[in-house]
Amino acid sequence: MSAESSKMRDDFLTLARLALTDKSQDIPLFLNKVARKCRDGDPELSGELGSLVKAATSRSSALRREAGVPVPVDSDSRLHLLRIESPNPDAPTPVFAPEIGHQILSLVRERREIERLTSSGLEPTKSALFVGPPGVGKTMSARWIASQLGLPLLVLDLSAVMSSFLGRTGNNVRAVLDYAKRQSCVLLLDEFDSIAKRRDDATEVGELKRLVTVLLQEIDDWPPSGMLIAATNHSELLDPAVWRRFDLVVRFPSPAREDVARAIRRLLGDDEGVGAEWIDVLSIVLGDASYSDIAKRIVHLRRAAVLDELRLDDEIQKFVRQRVAELPRSEKLELAERLSAVSSISQRAASEITGVSRDTIRKRSAKSAGGPHG
Ligand SMILES: Nc1ncnc2c1ncn2[C@@H]1O[C@H](COP(=O)(O)OP(=O)(O)O)[C@@H](O)[C@H]1O
Ligand SMILES: [Mg+2]
Repeated sequence: MSAESSKMRDDFLTLARLALTDKSQDIPLFLNKVARKCRDGDPELSGELGSLVKAATSRSSALRREAGVPVPVDSDSRLHLLRIESPNPDAPTPVFAPEIGHQILSLVRERREIERLTSSGLEPTKSALFVGPPGVGKTMSARWIASQLGLPLLVLDLSAVMSSFLGRTGNNVRAVLDYAKRQSCVLLLDEFDSIAKRRDDATEVGELKRLVTVLLQEIDDWPPSGMLIAATNHSELLDPAVWRRFDLVVRFPSPAREDVARAIRRLLGDDEGVGAEWIDVLSIVLGDASYSDIAKRIVHLRRAAVLDELRLDDEIQKFVRQRVAELPRSEKLELAERLSAVSSISQRAASEITGVSRDTIRKRSAKSAGGPHG
């Protein structure tokens, strides 16, 4: 047999394997590879294959939607296991910390320019692990990515399914993964650490192991037509072997002060007339709150402003003064110093807000600016 026909034979077998082992999602990528390989030897075949793949991929998302596969339900309760969110072009863009903004944007860009990747034999990022404290935008980012791509977001809350009998959990998780694999979608496995957290009696250990094995295998094999995102607040519970399975790990930091101010500004909108100074004050007084705490606080303040018939400005000042009044002296001093370190806030304002004298603020600021020798 010639080298040529032996290669052809291998390709044919690969194609048969993909078609018959539930990997049909990977066929377009494989055919693209073949088309590239035979571009010089058989340009006609190469061109034909290329255009077949192109036509099929643009049709397939529409077809899959029409296929009408039923949403998986729990075998006992008959409740839906998945929350399905349609893409929403108006989904708000999260505030991204500089160190993760690029990672998230490239997840979107790779999909938008997927043809450039596949024509170079590359796949887009298929799986990502979002790690970080609660309320910093892990779920929101998954929703935003799906919306940017015009794909539905399928959410499986693992803390909910893991709470039931494990044998059932295994079936449920498998049903969801099977369902999600067959569509163009973003699948979010939320509260991913729930799997690791589960403490079992001896009879269930084997079952749990099997479930984890299935999950990890699925992460490896996730079809490039979809994206799998897992999110966790407790990264320390995850085995390093689990981390390694993901194409990308995004670590969401607690928001930095400037990002908190940006989030507040956005939540207030443009026309609320709240001065920059008070936004900065608020961003410091809220301290290390998560974005979700901040969002709730702003809504509270808006409601209060309406009911008190105050301007939002004044309501914010009222809130800040109440907060400060509750602080012990040492924290007031610290706050005064942090406030006066922000350029938009004068020492006089810092003093007025905290009740710490300007003299004291000046001395403390000079001391900390000068370091241990100052
Ligand atoms: N990065 C962010 N930018 C703007 N708002 C945010 C951000 N992160 C969280 N929020 C607000 O907090 C809410 C909850 O955030 P979520 O994404 O569910 O947090 P997580 O999944 O990290 O626990 C969001 O709906 C949004 O109102
Ligand atoms: Mg979340």
